Amino acid sequence: MFNFDFYNPTQILFGQGQIAAIAGLIPPQARVLMTYGGGSIKRNGVYDEVRAALAGHTVLEFAGIEPNPSYETLMQAVALVKSERIDFLLAVGGGSVVDGTKFIAAAALHEGEAWDILAKGGKIVEAALPFGTVLTLPATGSEMNGSAVITRKATQEKRSFMSRKVYPKFSVLDPSKTFTLPLRQVGNGVVDAFAHVMEQYLTTPVNASVQDRFAEGILLTLIEEGPKALSHPDDYDVRANVMWSATLALNGLIGVGVPQDWSTHAIGHELTALYELDHAQTLAIILPSMLRVRKQAKRAKLLQYAARVWGLDGGDEDGRIEAAIARTEFFFRHMGVKTRLADYGLNHASVDAVVAALEAHGMTALGEQREVTPAVSRKVLELSL
Ligand code: NZQ
Ligand code: ZN
Repeated sequence: MFNFDFYNPTQILFGQGQIAAIAGLIPPQARVLMTYGGGSIKRNGVYDEVRAALAGHTVLEFAGIEPNPSYETLMQAVALVKSERIDFLLAVGGGSVVDGTKFIAAAALHEGEAWDILAKGGKIVEAALPFGTVLTLPATGSEMNGSAVITRKATQEKRSFMSRKVYPKFSVLDPSKTFTLPLRQVGNGVVDAFAHVMEQYLTTPVNASVQDRFAEGILLTLIEEGPKALSHPDDYDVRANVMWSATLALNGLIGVGVPQDWSTHAIGHELTALYELDHAQTLAIILPSMLRVRKQAKRAKLLQYAARVWGLDGGDEDGRIEAAIARTEFFFRHMGVKTRLADYGLNHASVDAVVAALEAHGMTALGEQREVTPAVSRKVLELSL
């Protein structure tokens, strides 16, 4: 196991009725900006519950943070924060609202060009406004990590940043608030969480037994509970298990002391930036092909995954590996997320465009062994057609 430095200061309030508790977690004198997306929170009652909880606070609002939040929109919120002397942010929504709010929190206190926060991956973030979240879509893990992914529409760039300054102070996870999710977002969330585990688990073995067992536990839970969230959308326990799985998949715990991959995500971000596919759609397309192309480098972990997650421990090794990848692909489709570029009308021309974008953004040595060059990415994309 590698050395590590684990840090996670986010307080989690999990369960039904927890939104009411946020009043006690935000300083009474704070000038709060509540950020949200396109209005789902108004249709499912979350908006009213949050406003009721904050009845004693000064609260302003910024609506319209879009899926794959844009720099252009978020800079409007930064201007509002400055003009209204906001000193606490509250993100209410999915990963896009949470990510967007992290950027607002950092950009509001940043001197100089705000895009540099993304261009430099968060290294220049020296301070950020405090913020909390009320999560309505289990998927990204953003509610308990220090990462955000922001898109600059003008240049079709989707970039991420990471900083210890942008962990939420608290996050409310009420599984009953996910009952209203469209099936597409339920599927997306489960696939995204699954891919997060795979990016940290399916690499090379370093004898990190606890991380491996945690990772396998999350994968098995998503495989068992994910389909039930589609077939029994009002089942609270199913939603609770999916929600906590997604948080644990990317709150840092399973990623400590182990090599991490993230090449599937890097290629996926270019697909979203160029063709506006949902984040999880890109992962369902890329991950199975990535595992096939990098089968040799990942061989030991693929065999472990086949045995412990899919119960495949008989027969020849290559057969077991292929069966495990095929089951992964089937699971994504079963969750309603398609797995081929062609399913979205993309073809060879798109492969060229994605490879060119990876090169332009310096994404030329990806993966746990830095061996995913543009040529390897091309192979993965071609296998995904
Ligand atoms: O905008 P509203 O009206 O709120 O509707 C949203 C949106 O249209 C809707 N929704 C959310 N909760 C709902 C609901 N509809 C009904 N009932 C509810 N309870 O769902 C749609 C999608 O929301 P979005 O926030 O975009 O989805 P998600 O949580 O999957 O976030 C995706 C973004 O997170 C980034 C992705 O790249 C993408 O930009 N990621 C962030 C990560 C991180 N911060 O660590 C890691 C991930 O790998 C990922 O890259
Ligand atoms: Zn993801």
